[in-house]
Amino acid sequence: MPTLGFLKKKRTKDDNSPTSPTVDKHGHTPITPTLSKQSTLFTEPESTFSSGNDSAHSSATSQPASSTTNKPAAPTSAPQGMQNNQATGQLQGQNPTSSTQNVPSIHNLIHQPNYGSGIDSGYGSADNTANNNNAVPTLNLPTTQKSGPQPFRETKGKYTLTDFSISRTLGTGSFGRVHLVQSKHNQRFYAVKVLKKQQVVKMKQVEHTNDERRMLQRCRHPFLITLWGTWQDSKNLYMVMDFIEGGELFSLLRKSQRFPNPVAKFYAAEVTLAIDYLHSMNIIYRDLKPENLLLDRHGHIKITDFGFAKEVPDITWTLCGTPDYLAPEVVSSKGYNKSVDWWSLGILIFEMLAGFTPFWDSGSPLKIYENILKGRVKYPPYIHPDAQDLLGKLITADLTKRLGNLHGGSRDVMTHAWFAEVTWERLAKKDIDAPYVPPVTGGIGDASLFDKYPEESEPYGDRGEDQYGKMFPDF
Ligand SMILES: Nc1ncnc2c1ncn2[C@@H]1O[C@H](COP(=O)(O)OP(=O)(O)O)[C@@H](O)[C@H]1O
Ligand SMILES: [Mg+2]
Repeated sequence: MPTLGFLKKKRTKDDNSPTSPTVDKHGHTPITPTLSKQSTLFTEPESTFSSGNDSAHSSATSQPASSTTNKPAAPTSAPQGMQNNQATGQLQGQNPTSSTQNVPSIHNLIHQPNYGSGIDSGYGSADNTANNNNAVPTLNLPTTQKSGPQPFRETKGKYTLTDFSISRTLGTGSFGRVHLVQSKHNQRFYAVKVLKKQQVVKMKQVEHTNDERRMLQRCRHPFLITLWGTWQDSKNLYMVMDFIEGGELFSLLRKSQRFPNPVAKFYAAEVTLAIDYLHSMNIIYRDLKPENLLLDRHGHIKITDFGFAKEVPDITWTLCGTPDYLAPEVVSSKGYNKSVDWWSLGILIFEMLAGFTPFWDSGSPLKIYENILKGRVKYPPYIHPDAQDLLGKLITADLTKRLGNLHGGSRDVMTHAWFAEVTWERLAKKDIDAPYVPPVTGGIGDASLFDKYPEESEPYGDRGEDQYGKMFPDF
């Protein structure tokens, strides 16, 4: 067993043990899909589920509607194909899950990069991505101060605390929290991630935090969170993002216990497109897990949390991630590359289909690492053979065999039999109805699908001396 590197995050939100599905007051489990007239994503009967909401597929988050545009999901019965599906039975249980607990998820850190000189440094900053200029997105500011699209980097320093009314916490993380906020200029709702500088420095995450900002700044994709701008004061860093109203996939999965095959396939396919895009930008994501996957108001995926995203043209060594989702080459402190995200995609698909992760072991990270290195995966019998085949090819320690890391790259994943029914072009346009529409009212700051957290007691906006100087030049 190698000396394990130390990880920023441990999975503490909830254990991974299977839970029973929640049944709502109508007797439906959260993920019971509705029938749809159209079969869009899949050509097989199992694919006939849909959101039941055929309304706009445009990005609702960048232009939040002022009125309600979607109805809460009104699950009826599982479609034909799902009844044939082995997982359907899982949706009929009666025992509510216990509410998920959020515990700060930071753990020990060793093997830290040295700022500016460590192994994990030296890759392109926003400014040396000049050859990626066509990838630098242009966008509208959430304030009314600018009329047309602006190059992203011009948003730097554009905001202050006084631009927003801060309301409740949506999620807590290792170094701070994410708040629902409302712009005082356009009255729209956003999410602001607040990171405590002191925590970031203490946990030696300065470089990762600067990367988080830089990587988010470079990305524009339908299934990735949009960053609108940032600012800082003497105590905190602030990142303004779209507010993604549908809550975490994590919550939906725990409430549902596990997803039927087509539902897992839909989410996995959207995530695959996002990973493919990130890799095309030479960005490794490194923190794929249901906690970081949000659902927009129509039920499409938005990946948030670029805390470990990094520009890595070929190889890197930093040990970071979440134990259950770590690839063996990360656990054993070898250099690794983009293929760690394909491994994590395998873990994610497994967890969606099974309700627990394959190497989970009584919640002990050390046992999890041992299991990862042993590499034995036991597939529950209800996992579809095509899914098993794909998982076997993603969750493989042999990098010369791992799908996504081979000559065909992400194509090999997309053309795998499990994804056979997916129309990738339509999926990328959000032209495929999601299997579940979160029961939220859009555009009014409805955060009812997020867990509740104790609020921060220390006020934001400190104007005192900034002892962290210029550690965060991009904010
Ligand atoms: N844009 C967003 N809209 C709504 N909720 C969000 C958004 N970004 C993050 N969250 C919530 O906050 C939680 C913590 O944010 P995250 O960026 O993942 O922090 P950490 O790096 O500490 O894990 C997420 O798991 C999610 O529940
Ligand atoms: Mg996170």
